[in-house]
Amino acid sequence: MIKILMICLGNICRSPMAEGIMKSKIMQHGLNAEVDSCGTANYHVGDSPDYRAQKTLKNQQIDISSHLGRQFQVEDFDKFDFIYTMDESNHNNILALARNAADQQKVKMILDEIYPGKNLDVPDPYYGSLSDFQSTFNLLDEACDAIVDKVKKLKV
Ligand code: 4NP
Repeated sequence: MIKILMICLGNICRSPMAEGIMKSKIMQHGLNAEVDSCGTANYHVGDSPDYRAQKTLKNQQIDISSHLGRQFQVEDFDKFDFIYTMDESNHNNILALARNAADQQKVKMILDEIYPGKNLDVPDPYYGSLSDFQSTFNLLDEACDAIVDKVKKLKV
């Protein structure tokens, strides 16, 4: 069983979207994998995903309404195999919490799965419009397809 963790700042926009998209693909492809999401910050602990994130995913028949925001814990390094960050700021914050090289190696920027080595950010749609949430969806959908291919190659 491969365990994947999606991380952003607030855990109400990008990472719950990535979790919902990845869960849907895990089901479609029958993968032996699990996915969760969390934030680096604690502002939205216990909150539902932003309504615009929920709406964008609902248009794709993906329901993320039951997710509740939580903050990253150091123990997550033990629980997850792949830890995907949405932007450079999240990435640096999580790497700063790594206890050793094994922890560090689990952390990757999610868009590096489709643009290797470019360190591109998933833009934060929080202060944007519904169309920014759609752009976020499109980027994450493509990145999650690449993660599906990667998990399939692991033959777990
Ligand atoms: P997220 O977006 O990191 O994609 O969930 C944000 C949500 C809330 C805030 C910032 C970013 N905030 O400052 O409350």
